[in-house]
Amino acid sequence: MRILMVCLGNICRSPIAEGVMRHKIMEHGLQWTVESAGTESYHVGEHPHALSQKVCREHGIDISQLRAIQFTKKDFANYDKIYAMATDVLREIKQISGHGGNMAAVSLFLNELEPGSNKSVPDPYYGAEPGYHEVYKMVDETCDAIIKKYK
Ligand code: 4NP
Repeated sequence: MRILMVCLGNICRSPIAEGVMRHKIMEHGLQWTVESAGTESYHVGEHPHALSQKVCREHGIDISQLRAIQFTKKDFANYDKIYAMATDVLREIKQISGHGGNMAAVSLFLNELEPGSNKSVPDPYYGAEPGYHEVYKMVDETCDAIIKKYK
C-alpha cells in the first residue's frame, strides 16, 4: 500500500503523520510506503516545524530530514490512499482534482479512527507546543487504526 498524508503547509501535521506511520510500518514489518505533501506552496523545501520535530523526537522518531513538497494532480495516480488531515485540506484536494477528477483514493484521515465523524486534525501552526502534542496523539491513534484495518 502506498500512502500519502496531506495537510496545508506540509510542515506541521502531515510530516508528523509521515514519521509516525513510517515508524509503525517498520515495527509491523509491512511492505507499505508513506510520504507527505501540502496543498499550499508557501513552505516548499522547508524542514518540518521545530515543534513537530520535537514531539516526534520525544517519541523516538526523527523527521528532521523531511522537506515540504506541494501536492499535485499527478499524485492521484501514485498512491493507493491519500489522507486529508482536515476538511479544508479535503476541499483543496477536490479542487486540485478538477471536474471529473479521481477522488476514489482520498479520505479524511480521522475517519479511519472514528468512521463518518468528518473531524479535522487541528492546525497547530498559530498555536503553542501543547497543540503539537495533541496532533501527535491523534495521529498515533489513527495510524494504529489504519494498520489494524488494512494489515
Ligand atoms: P500544516 O500547518 O498544514 O499542518 O503544515 C500549517 C503550516 C503553515 C500554514 C498553515 C498551516 N501557513 O498558513 O503558512
